[in-house]
Amino acid sequence: MRTADDERARLIDDLVRDGRVYDPRIRAALDAVPRHLFLPGLDPGAAYADEAVPIKTDGGVTVSSVSQPSMVAIMLEQLAPAPGHRVLEIGAGAGWNAGLLAHVVGPAGSVTTVDIDADLVDGTRDNLAAAGVQGVTAVVGDGAGGYPAAAPYDRIELTVGSTGVRPEWVTQLTPDGRLLLPLTVRGSQLSVAFDRTGPDRLVSASVRSCAFVRLRGAGADPGADAALPGGGWTVQPAGRDVPGTADLPTLERVLREPGGDRAAPAPGSVSDLWDGLGLWCALADPGVLRLLGPEDSRLGPALFAVAGARAALGIATAEGCALLLADPAATVRAFGPDGDAAAERLLALADGWVRAGRPHAADLRIEAVVPAPGDGPAPGEIVDTAGTRLRISWGTGPG
Ligand SMILES: C[S@@+](CC[C@H](N)C(=O)[O-])C[C@H]1O[C@@H](n2cnc3c(N)ncnc32)[C@H](O)[C@@H]1O
Repeated sequence: MRTADDERARLIDDLVRDGRVYDPRIRAALDAVPRHLFLPGLDPGAAYADEAVPIKTDGGVTVSSVSQPSMVAIMLEQLAPAPGHRVLEIGAGAGWNAGLLAHVVGPAGSVTTVDIDADLVDGTRDNLAAAGVQGVTAVVGDGAGGYPAAAPYDRIELTVGSTGVRPEWVTQLTPDGRLLLPLTVRGSQLSVAFDRTGPDRLVSASVRSCAFVRLRGAGADPGADAALPGGGWTVQPAGRDVPGTADLPTLERVLREPGGDRAAPAPGSVSDLWDGLGLWCALADPGVLRLLGPEDSRLGPALFAVAGARAALGIATAEGCALLLADPAATVRAFGPDGDAAAERLLALADGWVRAGRPHAADLRIEAVVPAPGDGPAPGEIVDTAGTRLRISWGTGPG
């Protein structure tokens, strides 16, 4: 029978072997702050599996989880906490990541962790005490406003997804502080480590793909996802209210047609839907969408398999749609009267992505500017839901 110590050692070895962890301080923290103590009742194999573990649901939807260890490790490497740092975490959950942070910053540093739910903060305090972790202050609050009482922070880490970079997080950083957050950009959730380079300006140091539950409270965003009227299918549009894109009944109708196939320059993979090709397409064209539906539908077998469902990357036009298919591979299918125009756009974007060397999230550079009142966006900038302007480019970032 393998013990928790055996399972933890195996997980850490895996994370090091897979290049998720290389800072010895983070490795030491993973060893010293045992994850199973933050998941009481779970057997050691499950507590040290590389999977997120839901700890709270609301109406069948997960609102809190202990994050996937590899994602926690990737984000700690991005955050680069150091001894003596003052850190704010938004999203205490079960307190595991706060415990890891406290181990890295040591007695000369401090960690404040905030959660919007009092029961989770109670659990965080209990779990940290059980693990013998000191130096964490766990508070109940809405992290949308940061936590001004203990500011400024050398590091702010959100372990919950946001659709905007809120000005409060920027102003609560030290002048050279770092903000790390799961940020949704054109439908893709990206873990972005931003360095503060001026009072109202951040520049990304690294970008990775990620998947987190979303902020509740003042920073909550109902999102733009919509169900097709026939049921079973969800549309995730990259842009909101994009002129010249089909409404939901039109999309439903054209997707019932057989469609016509065109050869694509490269076969897609499931990771290309929200990273790689999908991210490239969505940043260039807000008419891009992701479609999620059941496996057993007419279109299902032609689409990409994701967690018991099927998904596709596509582009919508006023009277049509084009989808990149998994089967047949390297195929774009055009649906509806102007589906060919959508297919042309999708093929041109896929061609550009191949010629650019198939970049992924890690190749992005993102600059974020909190605007002064009346200061409008420049051409090409994306305005996020907090009003922050994002300037996004490919291939020039260090990360
Ligand atoms: C993925 S869990 C965090 C996991 C946690 N860091 C751990 O190590 O266990 C995300 C957390 O964010 C919290 N959350 C959601 N909205 C929030 C908000 N506005 N302010 C603070 N916490 C929030 C949720 O309650 C949830 O516990």
